[in-house]
Amino acid sequence: MASSPVLCIVGARPNFMKIAPIVRAFEQHNPPIPYRLIHTGQHYDVRMSEQLFADLGIPAPHLNLEVHSGSHAQQTAAVMARIEPVIDESQPSCILVVGDVNSTLACALVASKKGVPVVHVEAGLRSYDRAMPEEINRVLTDAISDVLFTTEASALPNLQREGIAEDKVIFVGNVMIDSVLQNREHALAPQATLAAHGVADAASLAQGRYALATLHRPSNVDEEQPLRQVFDILCDTAQKLPVIFPAHPRTHKKLESFGWLTSLQENHVHLLPPVGYLEILGLMQHATVVLTDSGGLQEETTALGVPCLTVRENTERPITIEQGTNVLVGRDRSLIAQHIAEILSHGGKRGRIPALWDGRAAERIADHLWRTLYAERAA
Ligand code: UD1
Repeated sequence: MASSPVLCIVGARPNFMKIAPIVRAFEQHNPPIPYRLIHTGQHYDVRMSEQLFADLGIPAPHLNLEVHSGSHAQQTAAVMARIEPVIDESQPSCILVVGDVNSTLACALVASKKGVPVVHVEAGLRSYDRAMPEEINRVLTDAISDVLFTTEASALPNLQREGIAEDKVIFVGNVMIDSVLQNREHALAPQATLAAHGVADAASLAQGRYALATLHRPSNVDEEQPLRQVFDILCDTAQKLPVIFPAHPRTHKKLESFGWLTSLQENHVHLLPPVGYLEILGLMQHATVVLTDSGGLQEETTALGVPCLTVRENTERPITIEQGTNVLVGRDRSLIAQHIAEILSHGGKRGRIPALWDGRAAERIADHLWRTLYAERAA
């Protein structure tokens, strides 16, 4: 009965921690839900892709489309052209896309025009900032999705405002947090991560207080002036406590092109290459504060109860502010310095765990898809 598979798509780093619990839930479902895992190859460095597959226990993809980097148009178009024959050949029951990266939109668009139902995991998040490429991807993917699984309460009114029928929207919780809860006990100790990446004084650094920084949004790193502000913020922070900074390839290339890599290190910012999932989880768990512009880290710090300063003017994940440990600080140097001082003296913002961030979101997704795609059709 259930022979046509769910075509699961991943492309970029933040997709991997979302798909891992989903494919596991498909395998553990009784009966198992058939699926094919397709990697678009948007991220291709070992550290941005293979390492995360290994850390998260994701089975090797059935196929890698190997699109790699390019302009948004080139990358999106390449994914579209290469996914089309895969959809034709797999005859899937539906296509399942996660998050908001270019691969998400590209695959949803092709499937939708072929009449293949689109399932969007992490639907309805809105920053209301159309300068973010991800916001365009979110709005467009949701507009053509048939099933919209949401992570937080803000998503439903966002979707309703765009005319999306409420009966397509299902609040299941957060698969990203499924991954945190499944893996937190296996997280690597910060000392091991720092030593593995050749950071001098790894032992003493890891035992004391430290800030963990991750920054890669185009608005923060692509142009000289905002990147200079980010540089100053990292150096200010490093005067108060050591800063550990695993840099995304985009950020690394920009820092290098402006000639700022060495001075960052001279200012006691410990630069690391992109780290694995079990490494970042360990670094996050033990951090005194996290400085980030990542959507994922905003949620993960809320789940772990670690103070998070988000270097952005807005967030599509407002629950991390309303209930979690997150604070929006933009690139405001003095505001960030004030928050760091407060965190060092009083521990910073305390939050609570949002509804359904309980480690079982993927199970709810599997149950729903089984009922609606397979069991009800066979009945
Ligand atoms: C993408 C997502 C973003 C997500 C981020 C996480 C979109 C629009 N953006 O941004 O939402 O937060 O992934 O990492 O889909 N590069 C490498 N090796 C890689 C991948 C990228 O060197 O494996 C470099 C390339 O120079 C590339 C640049 O990083 O041009 C940007 O990569 P791209 O996939 O276009 O976007 P991200 O910034 O990674």
